[in-house]
Order: sequence, then C-alpha cells, then structure tokens
Amino acid sequence: MSERLPVNCNRKFCYDIVFDQSFDGLKEELAPFALSGRKLCIVTDTMVEPLYAKEVQAVLKDVCKEVHIFSFPYGEEHKNLETVQSLYVYLIEHHFDRKDMLVALGGGVVGDLTGFAAATYLRGIGFIQIPTTLLAQVDSSIGGKTGVDFSQYKNMVGAFHMPKLVYMNFGTITSLDERQYFAGMAEVYKSALIKDADLFVWLLDHIYEICDRDMDTVTEMVMRCCNIKKAVVEKDPTEQGDRALLNLGHTVGHAIEKYMNFQMLHGECVALGIVCAAYISWKKELLSMDEYYEIRDMLVPFNLPISLTDIDPQEILKLTKSDKKMDQGKIKFILLKKVGKAIIDTSVTDEEILAGIKELIFDETE
Ligand code: GLY
Repeated sequence: MSERLPVNCNRKFCYDIVFDQSFDGLKEELAPFALSGRKLCIVTDTMVEPLYAKEVQAVLKDVCKEVHIFSFPYGEEHKNLETVQSLYVYLIEHHFDRKDMLVALGGGVVGDLTGFAAATYLRGIGFIQIPTTLLAQVDSSIGGKTGVDFSQYKNMVGAFHMPKLVYMNFGTITSLDERQYFAGMAEVYKSALIKDADLFVWLLDHIYEICDRDMDTVTEMVMRCCNIKKAVVEKDPTEQGDRALLNLGHTVGHAIEKYMNFQMLHGECVALGIVCAAYISWKKELLSMDEYYEIRDMLVPFNLPISLTDIDPQEILKLTKSDKKMDQGKIKFILLKKVGKAIIDTSVTDEEILAGIKELIFDETE
C-alpha cells in the first residue's frame, strides 16, 4: 500500500511524494499526466541502470508511447555541463518536445542533473524524481533544487525546477552499499538537528534497527525527514530565508568534498561539516560543550566520519569561501542553538571557521 505526502509551494507548484515498496504503483501515479502519446526518457547512471532501469522502463511502457534510457557514468565527477550537453543531444536526436518528460532514476547526482536538463531543455520540460538512495529520498529529490558542478564548484550552475512527482520505492534502499547507505544518514541526522529534536532522540533509540536497515524503521525515518523537508520548502521554496537551514554542514562539507577531489561521498563530508558547525556553535556559546560532544559523537554509530588526517585547514578555508552560500561577501553559516533549532549566522569569522576545520584533525593522543 502506497502513502503520499503532497508538497504545495505557494499553490503554484504542487506535487506528491509517493512512498511505496516497489515500482508497480508508478503506472497509476503517472495516469493523471496523460502521457499516452508522449515520450519519456529515463536518465540514470551506470550504477543504477543495471539494477532498475529495465524494470522501470517496463512499468512506464504502459503509460506512454516510447520509453528511452539515457545512462551516464556514475560519480560526482560526471555531474557537469558535459553530461548535460550529451543528454541535450540525445533528446534532440530523439525528437523530444516540450510535452515529453524526463525521469530521474538514481541518487542525488542523477536527480540534480536531470532536473537541470529538464529546467533548461526547450526552456523547461517536465520531470519526475525516482530517488534510489537514502540521501536522495530524504533530501535532494524534494524541493526542486537542480544543478550541476562547474569547474570544481559544487552546484554552481542550476535552477529551481519542481518535479511533477517524487516516487520512492523503499526496496531500493536494500541495494545500497554500506557507504552509500550511511552517507544518506548524514542528511537524516541534519534534518533532526535543524528542525526536530524528537527525531534526534528517535534516531538514537533506533540505532540498531537503522544500521540493520529494518524496513519499518527506515520507512518511518524517511517519511519523517520528508515531512521536515516539505515544511521547509513549502515555506521558502526558493531559499530566501529558512530553506538555507537545510545547508547545515554543507558549507565546510562542500569544501571538504572538493579538497578530497570527490573521493569522499557528499554525506560523509556533510557529517564533517556538521561537526565543524557544531564546534563553532559551541565556541560562540550557542551550544554547551556537552551538546557539542553529543552531536559529534552520535555520528559515529551511523558509520559517519567525525575526523580527518592529513588535511590543510587553510586550503579548506579557502575552498569554503568560494562556495556559493554567500551574502554580500559574507558566508551564510548555519549554526545550532540546540538540537532541533538552527540559525543563519553571517558573522562567523575566518578564524572561527579555521578553528572548526582544525577540530576535525584526528589527534592520536586523544
Ligand atoms: N538540499 C538542500 C535544499 O534542498 O535546500
């Protein structure tokens, strides 16, 4: 039995998030879009394609005229304009028009890139999100942020373009490798930290079930995060204010991602960014020392990193300042006042950021 959560941004962009255990319900969900004479293009990557593309194609064949599959190489290094360009070429050569649709089947990279191609091809065509990773299900597939990396700058080129539907098959969570699964936990943890102290406690109470990927627990967890994300993006769809809170851990996180040459996963870097933000929050007397250590140490049972070796903090600071979360030359830093309450702070100094980055350095004597 599927469940649904409508997302309604200013009554202008309404779409459902559908929660299911398989892809079977897609056919019914797409019926209202009257696609019978239309073409769909499943956009996916080489990791997800062998797992689900044919299955999704078979379901979609019943609702439209043609279902194409466009697959690009897996990995953040392919989230760029070159890949978008090859997708444009594919769509042009196969005569996709404005009423045809793209289907993003995969994790955050696939969702962001497909959404961006949909936002820009023929000045905008429809797309649906079928997120297959925990990270994409709890965060990136919802809210219409689309984009690609540009010349090592994360998500520097993009557009807000709302999906027509977000369809989650929780069965896909079982196919994630350990690293991918736990990287998604960083965004779950972030959601709790910024908005929901009860979820934070619930996560700690369910560590065993979460690590075991118990389906009922994972389902409840994803749905709770989607409720948080829905509330945030409904209130502030284009990040004029509170939506920025979702960037907790992302400013330094993105810098570490770049510093590590994208060899660490986005969620892993967000976990380190959360440690850094919580440390700065402690030093600015927003959090107590105990709160800081609890926030940091509770990342560990979810297999998330809290320290690094061999880093150059100055270089990471430099990269942090080239991130796009700037407001009149100042970084919009997200800090924590307590678990469940985040704030935007534009007064964080370079010294404070540097101290936060240095806090990440693994000290064997500790
Ligand atoms: N992933 C952050 C946002 O959607 O705003």
